Amino acid sequence: MTRSDTSPHAARYPAGAQAFPHRDLLGIGQMERHEILFLLDEAEQWVALNRQSAKHSDALAGLTIINAFFENSTRTLLSFEIAGKRLGADVVNMHAAQSSVKKGETLIDTAITLNAMRADAIVIRHGSSGATGLIADKVDCPVLNAGDGQHEHPTQALLDALALRHALRERGESADDFTGQTIVICGDILHSRVARSNLLCLQALGATVRLCAPPALMPVGIEAMGAEVFQDFDAALDGADVVMMLRLQTERMSGQFIPSAREYHHLYGLTKARLDKAKDDTLVMHPGPMNRGVEIDSEVADLIDRSIITRQVEMGVAIRMACLDVLTRRARGVEGWGEAA
Ligand code: NCD
Repeated sequence: MTRSDTSPHAARYPAGAQAFPHRDLLGIGQMERHEILFLLDEAEQWVALNRQSAKHSDALAGLTIINAFFENSTRTLLSFEIAGKRLGADVVNMHAAQSSVKKGETLIDTAITLNAMRADAIVIRHGSSGATGLIADKVDCPVLNAGDGQHEHPTQALLDALALRHALRERGESADDFTGQTIVICGDILHSRVARSNLLCLQALGATVRLCAPPALMPVGIEAMGAEVFQDFDAALDGADVVMMLRLQTERMSGQFIPSAREYHHLYGLTKARLDKAKDDTLVMHPGPMNRGVEIDSEVADLIDRSIITRQVEMGVAIRMACLDVLTRRARGVEGWGEAA
């Protein structure tokens, strides 16, 4: 019997490897709705494990996972590292700042080098959109995208969905998917891979997604992806069930995109006064890192009954455990997932 057969929701996705037939996790854009639900359901066992004092499984014992991070990260890198270790794998982190990338090595040569070390999974964060796909083409093991430029950040969208599912369940709402939920994503949509992956993921799970940003920070033609587009934050918040705030990604900006941080905060900052005008149970999310006082006020970020920002971090570990477990099943010869390599 495969693990998916033991899931309480086994009826909603195909058995064995057909539940997630991809070698890599490069983007939500490549995933079917039932594949997203499968990964969320798989993560539940790891949420439970992570809440125990002894948080250890031997599922990935003997495997080597390389986290190759070409951009800064706190949450994503740490949670991938913790995830791999809790599954019993040997985890190695490669920081680009201290690597041969600084000596002029190409991305492809770095990929070939990591491959020659016989990694069993490679997790990559890179500043260029599409870089993780390029590496996936050159290596023999599963590649997980931990954020590529402005393109996608699939594990962030999955952890956000898991955090939301748990928060809604605690309120007694059925949260198997997000049908009927209106979710506002507000901030620097243009430069945000989190916004793109979340738009795809939340829509696949049935939510209505509103994107809100000043015109300079809204991608042209984004309506074609099915989002409702707003410039007025108060209008976007009207009737919203969830609001997800995004940081201004100044490191990706060339030139001036906003007149001043003060004006930006006035128009697009999530203050308590602004939240008070929304529904009285609107949930607040943020992928981190937060710039308190710019896109979100401390008073809101720390609201115990409304903010699920730390829950998002908690779910990040469980989601990454699920992704590493599922993607290595084939190589480990898990029954129903194909032959061991
Ligand atoms: C996001 C990222 O790196 O894209 N952070 C994260 O992974 N938690 C968002 C951001 O940097 O603002």
